[in-house]
Amino acid sequence: MATLDLFAQPSPPPASIAEQVSDLRAALHEHAHRYYVLDEPSIPDSEYDRLFKELQALEAAHPELLTSDSPTQRVGGKPLDQFASVRHKVPMLSIRTETDTEASGAQNFDTRVRKELGLTPADPPVEYVAELKFDGLAMSLRYEHGVLVQAATRGDGEVGEDVTQNIRTINQIPLRLPADAPPVIEVRGEVYMRRADFEALNEKQREKIAQGAKGEKTFVNPRNAAAGGVRQLDPAIAAQRRLSFFAYGLGEITPPEQGGPSFNTHYELLKTLESWGFPVAAQVGRAQGATELIAFHQRMGAARDSLPYDIDGVVYKVNSLALQRQMGFVTREPRWAVAHKYPAQEQLTTVLAIDVQVGRTGKLTPVAKLAPVFVGGVTVTNATLHNEDEARRKDVRVGDTVIVRRAGDVIPEVVSVLLDKRVADAPQFTMPRQCPVCGSAAVREEGEADYRCTGGLFCGAQRKEAILHFAHRRAVEVEGLGDKLVEQMVDANVIRTLPDLYKLGFTALASLDRMADKSANKLLEALEKSKQTTLPRFLFGLGIRHVGEATAKELARHFGKLDAIMDATEEQLLEVSDVGPIVAQSLRTFFEQPHNREVVEQLRACGVTWEEGEPAARAPQPLSGKTLVITGTLPSLSRDEAKDMVEAAGGKVAGSVSKKTDYVVAGAEAGSKLLKAQELGLAIIDEAGLLALLTSSSG
Ligand code: IVH
Repeated sequence: MATLDLFAQPSPPPASIAEQVSDLRAALHEHAHRYYVLDEPSIPDSEYDRLFKELQALEAAHPELLTSDSPTQRVGGKPLDQFASVRHKVPMLSIRTETDTEASGAQNFDTRVRKELGLTPADPPVEYVAELKFDGLAMSLRYEHGVLVQAATRGDGEVGEDVTQNIRTINQIPLRLPADAPPVIEVRGEVYMRRADFEALNEKQREKIAQGAKGEKTFVNPRNAAAGGVRQLDPAIAAQRRLSFFAYGLGEITPPEQGGPSFNTHYELLKTLESWGFPVAAQVGRAQGATELIAFHQRMGAARDSLPYDIDGVVYKVNSLALQRQMGFVTREPRWAVAHKYPAQEQLTTVLAIDVQVGRTGKLTPVAKLAPVFVGGVTVTNATLHNEDEARRKDVRVGDTVIVRRAGDVIPEVVSVLLDKRVADAPQFTMPRQCPVCGSAAVREEGEADYRCTGGLFCGAQRKEAILHFAHRRAVEVEGLGDKLVEQMVDANVIRTLPDLYKLGFTALASLDRMADKSANKLLEALEKSKQTTLPRFLFGLGIRHVGEATAKELARHFGKLDAIMDATEEQLLEVSDVGPIVAQSLRTFFEQPHNREVVEQLRACGVTWEEGEPAARAPQPLSGKTLVITGTLPSLSRDEAKDMVEAAGGKVAGSVSKKTDYVVAGAEAGSKLLKAQELGLAIIDEAGLLALLTSSSG
């Protein structure tokens, strides 16, 4: 408590200092409003900080100039023992809720309003204001003579709690109103937390918990975090929560007879509050009749997920204040307003199991199996845990009570675990080291987030992808074997593994959907033709991770024979140019799986053959070590032919132009790649230039 010495006569500060202080405050108010409310700052943060410090210094030197509405006084109060009670001069009402989705909620409300007002179908539509229903907590802000004097929670609607100290820390809430504000005004609105601020808060909480801090926890949702922040006895903690505010109504206000303003409509009130510096959501709109309310409900439903904060519905209010008065209340709910909700996006449920699914490319994904729960408009029974790190970070365990979120079309997610509900001894989840589908080893490579099944050719989950890859025109090439067909064959169990392709008979093929005799015969021919292949194509076709076309060619050239590649040690593999530790490891893992070897043997047994050669020493190659980019249409060579030729000459073909590109081969209608090459000053050649390079004796 500061003591006042009534006898001391401090000499008043020179007028210029008082003016400086007042100018600085006005400037800081203005900049804070631009920054926090309008989100369009006009000065850099450093300049704001400088002005702020200047004001702090002046106030420290002249404490008699300090006022509670100074921008320096947002955080300053001491922790309280408890909150004082506040009796609301005008009760804080709640709103009736319509939960039915789509049109009926808005339609029912309009019908009730029209009936209440005695309107006939011949009368024009009622004008409403449509607003968002913010998911936070209601707050009443009392200003006297333009200064924020009290902030109170709703409580039971009659008596709330005095949380002024905490509310002062909210930068969006003005501490002082402009001169045209009435002597007494209570502004009502919602204190809430933006999703990004909520995420940042929880991230900080997780760090604290990881560092062993006692009594810390993460928050379930932005509303709980906001409510917790408002109810902190220590305003310094509340200040760290980064709360926000939207105004949507009034409590007590100086009546017009005593010089207060007179509003005719709710819309006008909102616009005036905005002009006094209060944040009002941009999505507020006037709506004529039920049709426009329905349109608003739909529009906001679609926009919901892209808003930076949570809403749980929209609110409709009769715009005319005279009509509002005429309609009045029923049991604490005004007849002139309704909340029209959206389906909740978060629900609690329990984890029944954690399964591991194998994707088409062999990726293992942990998935939480949930007790069915209706969330975001659908019944959810599964939620992905993405990968090992994510599953660990969230630490979801079987039996846990979890919060599940489904927003829009986004796949359902486990947001967090309610740790206090965890059953004792629930074991931590670990990724299996074996593929749950085929039993092959599952490995996680360095620097990768995912575990992958190494049983590429054998694994049931990867069948379709493996067959398509094998049949690709740059692999073994089975003309006409596209994804629709492969899908059908695998689903109908006509083929299970690659060798089955060559065991297909006419009858099996012709029995497939939309497969005419002629196409069945054509496919059989294409399969027969594909048996005669080359070692690089076959090797590439096996779909070994990290073994692309160029690597397959290098391996074939280096070892000459498939068996030599299959049996090569890691060291031997590393001797191949183009093969690094990752590729070598991948080859070893692949050929260590007995079923992969078996698939290779069966394919050979089915008649797939290629010419084998002797291990070759590298011939001097004209393009070795060079990277080329091919762009546009070449006069005689196709893109694939040109690529083959470049690779056969030891060069590499890249997809995009960079400083590392040695040559850009440009054909007709070359576009941005050519431009970029010109910008970088690279060597640009045409098809003739390429052919000349290929025949030159050395690179
Ligand atoms: S108006 C007389 N407008 O929803 C009507 N309330 O159940 C008083 N809310 O306690 C409230 N957004 O916390 C109103 N745009 C909005 C709102 C809104 C959220 C909350 C508020 C209120 C509850 C009503």
